[in-house]
Amino acid sequence: MSQEDSNAPDRGRLTIRTLAMPSDTNPSGDIFGGWVLSQMDLAAGICAGQRAQRRVVTVAVESMSFIRPVKVGDVLGVYTEVEKVGRTSLDIHVEAWVRRGRIGEREKVTEATFRFVAVDDNGKSTPVPKLDDLPPYVASEL
Ligand SMILES: CC(C)(COP(=O)(O)OP(=O)(O)OC[C@H]1O[C@@H](n2cnc3c(N)ncnc32)[C@H](O)[C@@H]1OP(=O)(O)O)[C@@H](O)C(=O)NCCC(=O)NCCS
Repeated sequence: MSQEDSNAPDRGRLTIRTLAMPSDTNPSGDIFGGWVLSQMDLAAGICAGQRAQRRVVTVAVESMSFIRPVKVGDVLGVYTEVEKVGRTSLDIHVEAWVRRGRIGEREKVTEATFRFVAVDDNGKSTPVPKLDDLPPYVASEL
């Protein structure tokens, strides 16, 4: 393993990769926490929707930690993993990492657990299918 690969997430699959832009900053010039949170919510929603194979809504965010600041020019990578599946809910573990200034060291900046609920066309909670009932191409991407 190369040196740069040793500083990498040990959990989850890369779900979103994007660039922190000047328009995403707070008054101190760092990237606004709400922007990072929204990237995490998007990535977790992709992961939860794939596992549930239907529409999902965010119902709670647990143990959100902002560990290090994100700076303009950092490449943000959001990693997701299905942590737990309930009857209608899914807990998704999310980690956001940056590559400083596009090319520098990789650092973990945030982590959290997002809870989603699978919903039907009327917005009512609906059961999440069993893993064994998912098509193989879906299961292999989780
Ligand atoms: C998600 C929603 C449909 C759930 O409705 P509900 O009547 O509470 O549904 P239920 O009582 O059937 O609970 C459904 C599941 O959600 C879980 N849940 C509900 N509220 C929760 C909360 N605040 N925190 C954690 N889990 C919660 C329940 O434990 C249950 O899980 P399980 O089926 O795996 O055991 C409803 O709360 C909702 O529409 N919320 C708004 C979601 C939304 O708009 N999100 C985007 C915000 S911008």
